[in-house]
Amino acid sequence: MRFLLSPHRFIFFVLLAGTLATTACRQDMQDQPRYKPLSQTSFFGDERSARPTIRDTVARGQLHLDEARYTGKMDGKDVTAIPIQIFRADVVRGQDRYQIYCTPCHGRLGDGRGMIVLRGMRQPPSYLDARLVNAPIGHFFDVITNGYGAMYPYNSRVAVDDRWRIAAYIRALQLSQNALPDLQQVANSAGAKSTPGGQQ
Ligand code: HEC
Repeated sequence: MRFLLSPHRFIFFVLLAGTLATTACRQDMQDQPRYKPLSQTSFFGDERSARPTIRDTVARGQLHLDEARYTGKMDGKDVTAIPIQIFRADVVRGQDRYQIYCTPCHGRLGDGRGMIVLRGMRQPPSYLDARLVNAPIGHFFDVITNGYGAMYPYNSRVAVDDRWRIAAYIRALQLSQNALPDLQQVANSAGAKSTPGGQQ
């Protein structure tokens, strides 16, 4: 039997055809039937593909019964104690979040002299002001959650418990910059006994 093509070429074309035939029938997951956000549909009576939440239902993880933790208030008043447990790692996490979200305006020391304030943005009050040193901790949670005057809210960017961690770190800043003589004594005597890195 005579080949029109040389045997080598024949094998090459068979392989090529085989490769093309098998790759051509891929169906990727991005091709599955789906709606683009807010697109129209004939499937539902109101023609909206984005469905409203169902009345009297709560999405998983969104049952926020702990009023103090999720609003920073009890009976309409700022809480005076942090409603979650705060360990050293939480303060460190608070410092980390503070330095990302707050230092541009409030500065690393919390004195209100952040970089964009030095460039002309309105200066926030220092956390060392007596009014803020004496403010209940819930006030800080409230300011982060809902904003305050010229400051916009951070509730869409900073998770609930991270807001408490930031508030805890602000307290640490206040204590570190404003330490009373007797507090310094306590810190010094505690420092002599504690292990390096503090307690977890
Ligand atoms: C874009 C700048 C900016 C950023 C970023 C910012 N703030 Fe502020 N903040 C302000 C300004 C301005 C004020 C003063 C608002 C006023 O009095 O109208 C303020 C006020 C405050 C106050 C004092 C409220 C009072 O009772 O006077 C607190 C507390 C505070 N901010 C916390 C935070 C925390 C925590 C973050 C980070 C999560 C943050 N801010 C991020 C600009 C900022």
